[in-house]
Amino acid sequence: MDLTKHEKSKFVAPDIAVSAVLVPSQELPAETPLVCGYDWESGVDYNKILESYACSGFQATSFGNAVNEINKMLKCRSVTLTEETGDPYEEDNFIKKKTNCTIFLGYTSNMISSGLRDTIRFLVKNKLVDCIVTTAGGVEEDFIKCLAPTYVGDFSLSGKMLRTRGINRIGNLLVPNDNYCKFEEWVTPILDEMLMEQIRDNVIWTPSRIIAKLGEKINDESSVCYWAWKNNIPIFSPALTDGSLGDMMYFHSFKKPGLVIDILSDLRRLNTMAVKANNTGMIILGGGVVKHHICNANLMRNGADFAVYVNTANEFDGSDAGARPDEAVSWGKIRVNATPVKLYADATLVFPMLVAQTFAKYHFSNKKNV
Ligand SMILES: NC(=O)c1ccc[n+]([C@@H]2O[C@H](COP(=O)([O-])OP(=O)(O)OC[C@H]3O[C@@H](n4cnc5c(N)ncnc54)[C@H](O)[C@@H]3O)[C@@H](O)[C@H]2O)c1
Repeated sequence: MDLTKHEKSKFVAPDIAVSAVLVPSQELPAETPLVCGYDWESGVDYNKILESYACSGFQATSFGNAVNEINKMLKCRSVTLTEETGDPYEEDNFIKKKTNCTIFLGYTSNMISSGLRDTIRFLVKNKLVDCIVTTAGGVEEDFIKCLAPTYVGDFSLSGKMLRTRGINRIGNLLVPNDNYCKFEEWVTPILDEMLMEQIRDNVIWTPSRIIAKLGEKINDESSVCYWAWKNNIPIFSPALTDGSLGDMMYFHSFKKPGLVIDILSDLRRLNTMAVKANNTGMIILGGGVVKHHICNANLMRNGADFAVYVNTANEFDGSDAGARPDEAVSWGKIRVNATPVKLYADATLVFPMLVAQTFAKYHFSNKKNV
């Protein structure tokens, strides 16, 4: 029986659909990794779970790339400095070149409010980073935690209820207002001392020098700033007054006016570190001032060699916070031949795991070999 063209079409898929759906593939390069997750039959092995991320896809793969990028920084860092590549004439110990790869670590204030403070302290205590940039809260919350604790609360606690009880909320963390009163009691006599040194000895105070002085004064091994002072690691904070420390300085300016803070001298110190470095790596947790300040310092050397961003920001609004590393390449803040990584994640979740797979392994294996 002969079928009409119309009848035949009921039994044959349309060519246009077939050719659209069944497009033939070209071979992918042989080295292209296969997607693969963790094999739970091997039991619970956290190291292997984290290693499996690289081939898992999405942000798990970015995590794997970030581990590789930080390990490249550490490999470069382990090259011993020679007379030629060292920095024998620098008199400022805080900005003196200490390794073959100067690592800049940036973090927003809330990271110090959170338990990430302890991970950051591990890096600073063990001299695994060379330079820090943070915002005011990233400085004062470190000291305040030495004076009184921060508590775990809930994102949904009512602001009105908390205000009536004198409790401040940072995300799902709670900081009693008394903590800031204790901070004022501790910091005000140090501000007096700083003003006296400014008048008597012509000391020019910069944010990094203030943070080092406070780090020395706190004399507490739980503090990031204490270890930074002890290990000559500068902490830069160009907007140091935008937090409780600024509130205290404001009150102090009525009681004893005259304290001056010079941010330009700090910019010279920070940029000098970048300019003289043999190689640089940037690890930036969060966005805003901390991200741009480190990237801009690296512009002074035509870009960082290595970079890892960890943040939750997106680029569609044109923000610097959300800009991917490729935008920084266009400005000369990251080198054109670099392999930078942006990991879209809450740093409190991923940074301890990143440190576990990089700095911690490097540190403990070096310790074993000593
Ligand atoms: N605890 C506090 O947060 C605190 C305390 C006192 C003062 N302040 C002041 O508030 C101002 C703004 O704070 P900031 O500049 O430190 O940053 P921020 O808190 O405004 O964050 C900037 C960006 O970083 C990213 N980010 C923040 N937290 C992140 C996380 N957990 N994981 C991944 N990405 C994250 C987000 O994209 C965010 O938009 C500063 O001047 C600071 O001194 C903050």
